Amino acid sequence: MTFSQIQEEILSLKNEKNITILAHYYQRIEIQEIADYIGDSLGLARTAKERSNTPHILFAGVDFMAETASILNQEKKVLIPNPESCCPMAAFLTAEMVREYKQKHPGIPVVTYVNSTAAVKAESDVCCTSSNSTRIVEKVMKEYNTDTVLFGPDANLADHVEQQLGVKLIKMPENGHCIVHSVLTKKDVEQIKSEHPNAELIVHPECIREVREVADFIGSTSQMYAHVKKNPNNVNEFIVGTEKGLLERLALDFPEKKFYLAQKKMICYNMKKHTIELIKYVLEHLDDNNFEVKVPHEIAERAILPISKMLELS
Ligand code: 13P
Ligand code: SF4
Repeated sequence: MTFSQIQEEILSLKNEKNITILAHYYQRIEIQEIADYIGDSLGLARTAKERSNTPHILFAGVDFMAETASILNQEKKVLIPNPESCCPMAAFLTAEMVREYKQKHPGIPVVTYVNSTAAVKAESDVCCTSSNSTRIVEKVMKEYNTDTVLFGPDANLADHVEQQLGVKLIKMPENGHCIVHSVLTKKDVEQIKSEHPNAELIVHPECIREVREVADFIGSTSQMYAHVKKNPNNVNEFIVGTEKGLLERLALDFPEKKFYLAQKKMICYNMKKHTIELIKYVLEHLDDNNFEVKVPHEIAERAILPISKMLELS
């Protein structure tokens, strides 16, 4: 692969200063290209814990992902290129709300999607991601001998788990959603399917039920990537029902295949707040505390428990 001048500069700064760069699939492609690891939320959390053996980690993803890496690596400095890169879904659920739900439903375990604040995680029994939510809920129900759990903040992911397991969850709250995935409607999907009748539709579980029900495959970003790589139905075209960054990665890695974004508005502007220029700046100014991810110690000590339990159960 040939790198641009700024990418070359970042790669040499990274080696010289001994820094690991982690990037989510929704990052701009020029950022994905210079990362040590690319992945979904679960993969990046695991990599942050098990494979990042440098004193600094630069995390190109939204705040909850960088916070999770920091909570799992409290002795390291985790840096986020643009501290304003946040996931709006997390705002649907506060720690105060979780405490109220727990009071109202005593004894019912709390499973929170990692797309949540560290304070919400601190109130939880176990975390989950889009790739392991069904398995985690199933295991937690067995462990606590219960037929339901408190689940938040994504009501679409909760609905997906309900459909997979044939159970009913208590959603915290009823209407939590991702503003990027929920724009995709059944009508959009029908339209794009009619334009590309031979394409497989792959979607993220944050999509609404009507969309998931007509999908050929539902999974996390890494699971979608793995599905395209495996290509069990031997197809040449895919309609991608998630953020555009994954499509760009797929197009780069599988040039012989065709990819269509299910809806042109599926862009997460928060993920795109990181730029290659900002990354270079942060690597040049490692002592600038403005880029350091700071989770209060008291919260981190509690939030590490449900995150570690998720890693154990996945
Ligand atoms: P993944 O864990 O599937 O990468 O999803 C993260 C996310 O924010 C989806 O919108
Ligand atoms: Fe959050 Fe949605 Fe962006 Fe994922 S795509 S980071 S859930 S806003």
